[in-house]
Amino acid sequence: YRNLRVALLGGGSVGAQVAALLLEHGEELANRSGAGLELVGVAVRDIDAERTPAIPKHLLTTDAESLILGADIVVELMGGLEPARSYILQAINSGADVITANKALLATHGPELFEAAEQVGAQLYYEAAVGGAIPIIRPLRDSLAGDRVTRILGIVNGTTNFILDRMDVNGDTLDDALAIATELGYAEADPTADIGGYDAAQKAAILASLAFHTTVPLESVHREGITEVTAEQVDAARKAGYVVKLLAICERIAITGDDGVETGEYGVSARVHPALIPVAHPLAAVHGANNAVFVQAEAAGSLMFYGAGAGGIETASAVLGDLVSAARRHVIGGPGIAESTHATIAVLPMSSVRTRY
Ligand code: NDP
Ligand code: HSE
Repeated sequence: YRNLRVALLGGGSVGAQVAALLLEHGEELANRSGAGLELVGVAVRDIDAERTPAIPKHLLTTDAESLILGADIVVELMGGLEPARSYILQAINSGADVITANKALLATHGPELFEAAEQVGAQLYYEAAVGGAIPIIRPLRDSLAGDRVTRILGIVNGTTNFILDRMDVNGDTLDDALAIATELGYAEADPTADIGGYDAAQKAAILASLAFHTTVPLESVHREGITEVTAEQVDAARKAGYVVKLLAICERIAITGDDGVETGEYGVSARVHPALIPVAHPLAAVHGANNAVFVQAEAAGSLMFYGAGAGGIETASAVLGDLVSAARRHVIGGPGIAESTHATIAVLPMSSVRTRY
């Protein structure tokens, strides 16, 4: 195999899980991608901090800039705008492909980062930035590229869904439920991003930009969080047959002239706000930190993507998928979407298979 040097920036909820899975499953991932994936270091702020799972001490460093030098793939899981933006630009300009889960950065500086990558022929992967473990970036960018998406409706923040669910089912207060979500690693470093709807707005901007083939600036996403939602309101909604959910809604809207007649042009609307969902609606059954994204497209009709929207190991799954794509790109060129040519699992004759669901 060719050996690829992987630098990890951040060893927190997601980063520590990525490091552990990469170290544990390295050979399997190498077989799958055709390249060795060597974790050369993990940049953190505090080398002595306790981490779950533990990261081998010799891999930890506080010198992110030196770590980036010589890396083939840089995985940014620090969060925040700076220094994440500068590190990603440094990585791109030194020829590395970059993987990030940082929706705040993408929604704010995405165009700058994508342009920098394009100029040097590098790739920027970000499947983990929306919906945690749920594959939603590739389906929108690739699988639906030949269709016309008309609407996206989704629960895209795991922390607020967890909180609203706890308020509904357990009668928790918002603060108590947020403390649990933080303990479980779902919340952002500053949880105002979650409960204020900022995180969901960032994700709405990313999804709308992909779905409608444009750049939707974060400032144009209408945003309301869940800070004003009380336990009494959640209870009253339940008694009336509804659950309260924080929704992201992105739509392609036909523009009408002053005469009320459609001009043939379209605009994009993106908004995030709490909404009352009838208990029988599939979105009402999205519990805990799960997310669900409905996509409506002209030809495909309605599609639904569902799964863990937050959590260290769940999000690590999406990051590792991007790592395999990036490794394949290094091996075969192109965008890194390829069939595995290194089969490592035997195909059983059907007669020997007994499956129970
Ligand atoms: P954490 O706060 O748990 O971890 C951040 C890590 O980055 C820590 O290891 C921290 O070091 C390190 N770090 C922060 N700033 C610096 C710096 N200036 N220099 C070096 N290291 C630094 O965050 P998460 O793992 O939860 O999230 C990481 C990213 O993934 C964020 O962009 C987040 O939005 C995104 N994300 C998170 C999900 C989740 O469920 N948690 C799901 C999907 C995306 P130290 O440990 O020493 O403090
Ligand atoms: N804080 C985010 C959430 C992490 O709760 O959804 C996943 O993006």
